Amino acid sequence: MNVIIRADYEEISREAANIISAGLKENPKTVLGLATGGTPKELYRRLVKEYKKGELDFSQATSFNLDEYVGLGSENKQSYRYFMEKHLFSHVNMKTGNIHVPDGLAPDPQLHCMEYERMIAKAGGIDFQLLGIGSDGHIGFNEPGSSLASRTGVVVLARETIRDNSRFFDSEDQVPRMAISMGLGTIMDARKCIMLASGENKAEAVRKCIEGPLCAMTPASVLQMHPDTTVIIDEAAACKLERRDYYLWLEKTRRKLLYN
Ligand code: F6R
Repeated sequence: MNVIIRADYEEISREAANIISAGLKENPKTVLGLATGGTPKELYRRLVKEYKKGELDFSQATSFNLDEYVGLGSENKQSYRYFMEKHLFSHVNMKTGNIHVPDGLAPDPQLHCMEYERMIAKAGGIDFQLLGIGSDGHIGFNEPGSSLASRTGVVVLARETIRDNSRFFDSEDQVPRMAISMGLGTIMDARKCIMLASGENKAEAVRKCIEGPLCAMTPASVLQMHPDTTVIIDEAAACKLERRDYYLWLEKTRRKLLYN
């Protein structure tokens, strides 16, 4: 894993936005895997800003979101589809037909999950998969104990995730108990993964993801087996890393080799 440590949330967002925007400029037909939640908001704001300045074009890009709550439709303000419209899709020139978010109201969710996998394959696979990490180590909604080879499916949210996500709802009772999520195997198929984490409440999950043993109890640790993952974290999220200084030194050395 390539670990990038920056001072704060603003800086990790800038770093990630730069990577995605460079990828999109190099390949306008990029297939993006997108995440919701608090973490990628500033990154999306930066991409929108670049688009509005005329520096970024989404017209040929395709996207697949990681997950959606079962039972919430696109009109529901807590749905991930609504989130994506609000923070990215409604501001840029992505073609509606190229946007994919799992349908929380699909009449046959299992069938829908299989169809979602087929659509990803038909698009040629995901080039950049953006990820956040849950305080319990989940990525997508793959909770501790998930199969490391899982595919898109219907999953049950862990109590910790329900508690964490209740901040976006009026009360904890309103947080849906189930979701449709890309599986860990689906995420691992992406050509490049970019995981973002900010804040001390993510520090333990980040430590287990990067330095812990590879195990289903920390679903994000599966990324240790991914050939091209960049983890971009702020100092607060990095505070429990045993080899923090090494990651900083490594990045500095790489930069020197690349630019000197
Ligand atoms: C969201 C997703 C989740 C979040 C994670 C962190 O689409 O798949 O895995 O990335 O729960 O959420 P935040 O960013 O709100 O801390």
